[in-house]
Amino acid sequence: MTKPKILAALALATLVPVAAMAAPQFFNIIDGSPLNFDDAMEEGRDTEAVKHFMDTGENIYNENPEIMPEAEELYAGMCSGCHGHYAEGKIGPGLNDSYWTYPSNEDDVGLFSTLYGGATGQMGPMWGSLTLDEMLMTMAWVRHLYTGDPKDAVWLTDEQKATFKPFQPKGSGDDDQS
Ligand code: HEC
Repeated sequence: MTKPKILAALALATLVPVAAMAAPQFFNIIDGSPLNFDDAMEEGRDTEAVKHFMDTGENIYNENPEIMPEAEELYAGMCSGCHGHYAEGKIGPGLNDSYWTYPSNEDDVGLFSTLYGGATGQMGPMWGSLTLDEMLMTMAWVRHLYTGDPKDAVWLTDEQKATFKPFQPKGSGDDDQS
């Protein structure tokens, strides 16, 4: 082997496994401190979805019709009072488009970190109110309410992007009073 080839082979051998195994890191969105999952509720810590998410940063609940009814209920009970029924924004900012106060929320590791650790003011941490599994479901509903271009929806798989229809709030144009 020539020297550049050896170097390239070495680089591949060392880099690829590291990249493939790199688990996501979670930080408090305000002060940057690592999130401590020891605080999480006992229940719902080791579901398949939570384990997969902690390993990969990928939320298998996204666009999963089986959990959507529960996801919708969780959002309605825990978030809609401040963020609006369709996540269009109320006393808290809108969560249904591509604009984020904290750009890290555009991916699911960031969104999860915001839920778990909270942000400022009324956006308190959710670790005492939702299980880790429920946070993933709530996130899936927030993502389902997305009204923007599916191409920008980095949380969807390529397959999901191809079929995702931006959410259409009732009342955008017709008779709903919300
Ligand atoms: C008591 C009111 C309140 C509740 C309940 C609440 N939020 Fe918030 N939320 C806020 C406020 C106010 C902000 C703005 C905080 C900031 O900018 O630091 C915010 C910010 C956020 C952000 C950051 C948005 C951005 O643009 O970066 C996300 C994401 C978020 N909330 C999601 C949720 C979800 C999901 C729930 C339900 C589990 C929830 N919030 C419950 C009031 C609330």
